[in-house]
Amino acid sequence: MEVLSNKGGDHIFKIENVAVHLNGKYLIHDVSFTVPKGQITAVIGESGSGKSTTLSALLGMLPAQAVMEGSILFNERNLMELSEQERAGLRKKHFFTIFQDATNSFSPTLKIKQQLYRLTASRLGQKEEAFLGKITAILKDLNLPEDVLNRYPFELSGGMLQRCMLACAFYNEPDVLMADEPTSALDMLHQQEFIKLLKNLHARLGATIILITHDLGVAAIADSMIVMKNGEIVEAGQVAEIFKEPKHPYTKRLVANHF
Ligand SMILES: Nc1ncnc2c1ncn2[C@@H]1O[C@H](COP(=O)(O)OP(=O)(O)O)[C@@H](O)[C@H]1O
Ligand SMILES: [Mg+2]
Repeated sequence: MEVLSNKGGDHIFKIENVAVHLNGKYLIHDVSFTVPKGQITAVIGESGSGKSTTLSALLGMLPAQAVMEGSILFNERNLMELSEQERAGLRKKHFFTIFQDATNSFSPTLKIKQQLYRLTASRLGQKEEAFLGKITAILKDLNLPEDVLNRYPFELSGGMLQRCMLACAFYNEPDVLMADEPTSALDMLHQQEFIKLLKNLHARLGATIILITHDLGVAAIADSMIVMKNGEIVEAGQVAEIFKEPKHPYTKRLVANHF
């Protein structure tokens, strides 16, 4: 029997000493962490702390003039050594990203059906019939009425659109789901609903999730977390341990304000 090598051991990303500078200014520096396979890793920090820049570095989508130092290994492959085309292929095949405001992720002039098809089956080279059967079942699981497919984005609420993005993640089953403040534009009720559905997705698919948030309540669903401040990681560890015994003054303040 062939022994499957467990590429990358128990982590899917290994980020080492990553710094990004742009026009002589460091956006992030000395960022090192690993992302365990099949777990939820939260990246928490206030606005401007470098969370989105870190994600852009992982995606290989930094601004054109930005310069990156350090190394990012995805399944032991150094992303720095890939061409732009190879990186785009990797993103399409292995990653799925959900951004803060789903309204910006959809074109206003196309019906949801067409857009979900483009984000899922079309990427995977599947026909529309197969797509309709599968997406309808997923929408139902996410408490979305089937007729959202025939509506335009403006006819759906922010929470429904964000769940449409989640439906795509369910459909594609990416190796890594990256979500950048996915609930920040939602009201409290929809925030909680989204987080619950995200947890279900994780329980069902066992996907690796990188969840960016400035909200400790959202980070609470993660297994491990990294805390960023001023472009640096100030603390990292298991969520339960950090909640119990935060070490850095910034994290202590966050935890104290949360409870
Ligand atoms: N395209 C950009 N051009 C110039 N500065 C940027 C750009 N993107 C981010 N920054 C700066 O980098 C720092 C980190 O930003 P960002 O990664 O967006 O933080 P966060 O996502 O935690 O709010 C901030 O000081 C921000 O102003
Ligand atoms: Mg951000």
